Amino acid sequence: MEVVILKTGAEVGDFAARRISLGAEDGSISVLGVATGSSPLPIYSALRRLRTPAIENLTAFALDEYVGLPKDHPESYHSVIHREVAEPLGLDPEKVHVPDGGAKDLPAACTRFEENIRDAGGVDLQILGIGASGHIGFNEPTSSFASRTRVKTLTAKTRADNARFFESPEEVPLHCVTQGLGTIMAARQIILVAQGKQKAEAVARAIEGPIASMCPGSILQMHPAATVVLDPDAASQLKLTDYYIRTYKNRPSWQR
Ligand code: F6R
Repeated sequence: MEVVILKTGAEVGDFAARRISLGAEDGSISVLGVATGSSPLPIYSALRRLRTPAIENLTAFALDEYVGLPKDHPESYHSVIHREVAEPLGLDPEKVHVPDGGAKDLPAACTRFEENIRDAGGVDLQILGIGASGHIGFNEPTSSFASRTRVKTLTAKTRADNARFFESPEEVPLHCVTQGLGTIMAARQIILVAQGKQKAEAVARAIEGPIASMCPGSILQMHPAATVVLDPDAASQLKLTDYYIRTYKNRPSWQR
């Protein structure tokens, strides 16, 4: 895993945005996996500032969606992705896919979502955040490493963490539809971003802990092209910090 520790959350966003933008320009990224939540917001702002024309041509797939929130609810991921990613970046709404959490037949909708990803040629770069529980997407602890898009039950911790987006904690849905860990691992490149002390433990478990379904993010240790970009607080429980900093400083010129 490539581990990059930068000085601020804004720098974390700039780093990821530059990679995405270069990939869009050189044609290696045409399908982008997008995440909701607070962590990737600096990436989307930086992409807006960069104004790379090729970004507008991207196809996007969201990681997850709540079950039971109407699509037009302001906190449905359908609304969030369109408001915070698709519109500001000028993506074609027809090419922005969010799992359907309101489908009558949810398993069939999950299968269709997987087929849509496959038909688009797979995800070139997946943006990820990580939950304090270690989840990526909404793959909560004990999720199968082989899982594909499906319905999951949110943990009490995730519901409490996401209550900040709702008027009351009870409003946070109990269930979600999420890309599986197997789906996420099929992306050709992954960039996970994390900022703040509240992520430090999950980050350390994902990067340096044993690969275990109790910390779903630890599966990224098995990905051939995963980069984790952190601010100093999110990196504060890592053991090999000096090594990561030295490696990044001395990275070969073709990686700059
Ligand atoms: C969002 C998602 C989640 C979040 C994670 C961190 O689509 O799948 O895994 O990335 O819960 O959320 P924030 O960034 O709000 O701390």
